[in-house]
Amino acid sequence: MEKFKIVGPNRLRGELKIEGAKNAALPILCASLLSSEDIRITNVPNLRDVRTMCDLLKKIGVKVKEDLKNGVCALNASKVSSIEAPYDLVKTMRASILVLGPLLSRHGEARVSLPGGCAIGQRPVDQHLKALEQMGAEVSLVDGYIHAKAKKLFGNRIVNDLITVTGTENIMMAACLADGTTIIENAAREPEVVDLAKFLRSMGARIKGDGTNIIQIDGVKNLIGVDHEIIFDRIEAATFMCAVAACGGEIFLDKIDLNLMGKTYDKLQECGGTFSEIEDGVLINFKKRPKAVSFETKPFPGFATDMQAQLMAVNCIADGISVVKEKIFENRFMHVQEMRRLGAKIEVDGSTAIINGRNKLNGAKVMATDLRASAGLVIASLVAEGESIIDRIYHLDRGYAQMDRKLIQLGAKVQRIS
Ligand code: EPZ
Repeated sequence: MEKFKIVGPNRLRGELKIEGAKNAALPILCASLLSSEDIRITNVPNLRDVRTMCDLLKKIGVKVKEDLKNGVCALNASKVSSIEAPYDLVKTMRASILVLGPLLSRHGEARVSLPGGCAIGQRPVDQHLKALEQMGAEVSLVDGYIHAKAKKLFGNRIVNDLITVTGTENIMMAACLADGTTIIENAAREPEVVDLAKFLRSMGARIKGDGTNIIQIDGVKNLIGVDHEIIFDRIEAATFMCAVAACGGEIFLDKIDLNLMGKTYDKLQECGGTFSEIEDGVLINFKKRPKAVSFETKPFPGFATDMQAQLMAVNCIADGISVVKEKIFENRFMHVQEMRRLGAKIEVDGSTAIINGRNKLNGAKVMATDLRASAGLVIASLVAEGESIIDRIYHLDRGYAQMDRKLIQLGAKVQRIS
C-alpha cells in the first residue's frame, strides 16, 4: 500500500494548472449512454475514479478510448451489451449509481449494485429511486442490487426531500429521453450539475433552470454525439488554496473560474493572505499565519463539504479558535483523530468541531480514511515540523491527479513510498 512521506514545514511557491472536475467528468461519462453517436470529452482528469468509470462503461458495452495523459475520452454507446453495474466495481466507486438513470432511460432496464455506505456516511440513494418510480420505473432491491425496469419513462414533478447532487444528475439524465416534461424541485445547484446540463443540451436535450433549485427537462426522442470540455475542478483549486494558506508562500492557480467557487472562495479569503485575480487564474500570497475561520458546510453555493477537512487543517495552525459544522454528511470527521496525532487541538461534539489553532504541528504517522480527509492530512503534514507518513494514500489518488508531483513542483518535500 502506497504512502506519502512529507517533511515540513516549507513555504510553497510556483504555479499550477487546475485539472478538469472529477465530479463533472463522472456524470458526463455516464451521459454518453444516452446517445448512439460518437462523444468526445476533453479536460478529463487522469484519476482512479475516472479510470474505474471507464472500466464500468466498457463492461456495459460502451466503446471507450481513453487517452487520459492528454485528458481525452472518446465514447460510443451504440452497442450496449449489459445493463448491469457489478458490485465489485460499484463498491470501489459510489458514483457508479450514475449509470442508473441513463440505462433506464435509453435501454428500459438497469441492474446496479446498491452502493454501500462509506467512511463519511450511510449515503442512501432513496431519492434517486423514489424519483425514478415517479417517472414510471418499477424498482426492486434483490440480493443487494437495484433492479429498475421501465418500458418508457414519463415526465413528472419530482420534489426531492433533500438536496442531492448525483440524485439531481440521475433524474436529469433519465428525464432527457422520457415522454413529456419533468420538473425537479429542490435540485442541486453545483457547477458540476450545470456542466452536465450544458453537455446534455449540446446533445439536443431540452433543459432549463440548471444552477437554480428548479430544473425543467422536456423529453426528446434521441440525443446526438458531441464534443465537450469539462469545467475546472473547484475542489482541487480550493485544496491548493488551503495548502498555501497553511504553509505560507505564493502560488498561481491557472484555468479557474472564481465565479464557480461560491462561498468556499469567500471563506478562504477570510484566512487572510491576498488573492489577486489575473486573467483566468488567481495569485494567492500568504505571508503571515492564517486567521482562524469558522464555517458550516452547505449545498452549493454554500461552503463545500468536500473542502471541510482541508480548511480544518488550516484552522489547526491558524491564529484563533474556529467552529466547524459538518451539515451534509453524518460522519465526515474521520480526519480529526489523525490531525490530533499531528498535535492539533480539536474537540468534537456531534457534527460540530472546535479547533484551537496552535502555532505549530509535529510530524507523525497518520492514516487516510477517505478522499477529502486524505487531502486535509496532506495539508496538515505539509506544515507540521519534521517527518509525517500518510498511509493508504490510494484514497487521495481517487480524486487528485499526481498530488505529490504538483506539491514537489511548488517546493514541498513529498515522496511517494510503497
Ligand atoms: C456528491 O455526492 C459528490 N460526488 C460528493 O463528492 C459530495 O461530497 C456530495 O455530492 C455533496 O456535495 C459526486 O458528485 C460524484 P449527495 P452525492 O447525494 O451525490 C443524503 C468527493 O469527495 N442523501 O448530494 O453522493 C446523503 O447521505 C465526493 O468528490 C440521501 O439521504 O451526495 C448526504 O447526507 C464525496 N438520500 C446528503 O444527502 C439520497 O438519495 C448529500 O448527498 C441521496 C443523498
